[in-house]
Amino acid sequence: MRFLISLSFALILCVAAPLLVGAVPAARVDKHAFGKTADGLSVDAYTLTNKNGARVKIITYGARVVSIEVADRGGKLGDVALGYDDLPAYEKDPSYLGPIVGRYGNRIAKGRFTLDGQTYTLAQNNNGNHLHGGLRGFDKVVWTGKGSVIGGAARLKLTYLSKDREEGYPGNLSVTVIYTWTNRDELKIEYSAQTDKPTVLNLTNHAYFNLAGAGVGDILKHEMRINALRFTPTNETSIPTGELRSVKGTPLDFTSATPIGSRIEAKYEQLISGSGYDHNFVLNKPLGELGLAAEVYESTSGRVLRVYTTEPGVQFYSGNFLSGAIGKQGLAYPRRSGFCLETQHFPDSPNKPEFPTTVLRSGGRYTQTTIYQFSVRRGQYRER
Ligand code: BGC
Repeated sequence: MRFLISLSFALILCVAAPLLVGAVPAARVDKHAFGKTADGLSVDAYTLTNKNGARVKIITYGARVVSIEVADRGGKLGDVALGYDDLPAYEKDPSYLGPIVGRYGNRIAKGRFTLDGQTYTLAQNNNGNHLHGGLRGFDKVVWTGKGSVIGGAARLKLTYLSKDREEGYPGNLSVTVIYTWTNRDELKIEYSAQTDKPTVLNLTNHAYFNLAGAGVGDILKHEMRINALRFTPTNETSIPTGELRSVKGTPLDFTSATPIGSRIEAKYEQLISGSGYDHNFVLNKPLGELGLAAEVYESTSGRVLRVYTTEPGVQFYSGNFLSGAIGKQGLAYPRRSGFCLETQHFPDSPNKPEFPTTVLRSGGRYTQTTIYQFSVRRGQYRER
């Protein structure tokens, strides 16, 4: 009898084991149509799913991150990236929800710069300055996408050719952005670009995060730590003055974790002119090396976001100009309901020779890596 029981147990194992092995989730990429632009161009959506079942959705319009679904401390998935449900909403978007920003993330004073003795004029789309690549930046063009699973990780390669003089910039610029969604819940973004004429370039991603969930209140209780001892103060039109100011004794000191909202209304001229946080922080790490830029913790969900980058700066923008637009699932995004951590070279570098250079020459290669890493903190412990 005992023999028979053991035999049937062994048989069950033989049948069930392959099924169980087959049930181990693997990373995958799913593609579907997202819609057509007003100009009739087809836009695709790619959903990158990792082994944990966590998901990132990216569309080819603007290479935009549409959603990031990651677990809270109870293991429940929630969407932490602000976005819209459909393409027409993205085409009207005034807030840059989720895209790759280019050719120049943030501002160039008066939309003008001189390179090798030649002056170039760009669109003045923000208080007389040039912002985020102009009227039709990389956030408003359709990229070519290719999904794959490489080394067990889901990834999406996006390419775009920006023609000579597009938005006023010199050089035919070929740009590649690779989003990899790792099995450690990291969204890794690898940028590279080449030009056939000297130009300037400063790419970034403009995702807005709310670690409690997109559309679930404001971000003022999120605890922010930024790996920076200095920032670049700006004038009344948000152009850096050229000074690198110590954060010490100012409401921009995030060297230890501090709730975003605790000093945001302080009567400090930089916060008044920026309507809150909208500043470039000078990262305290060697130029070009991948290192920590910021860490954010949200206590109700337990979610933690850490940002690593090879860039010298990060723009911490506290969503001051979000104005209640309706986003995914009919949820509104009012003022300060999301924050951005845009890893970048400093704003207006083409006019500030003392800042790390943003010049790209023909024969040279632009590269940048940024990682948005999600995890949860349980009690005193941090877990991955
Ligand atoms: C800029 C803000 C701007 C926002 C949305 C941020 O990167 O620093 O000044 O309002 O993007 O355009």
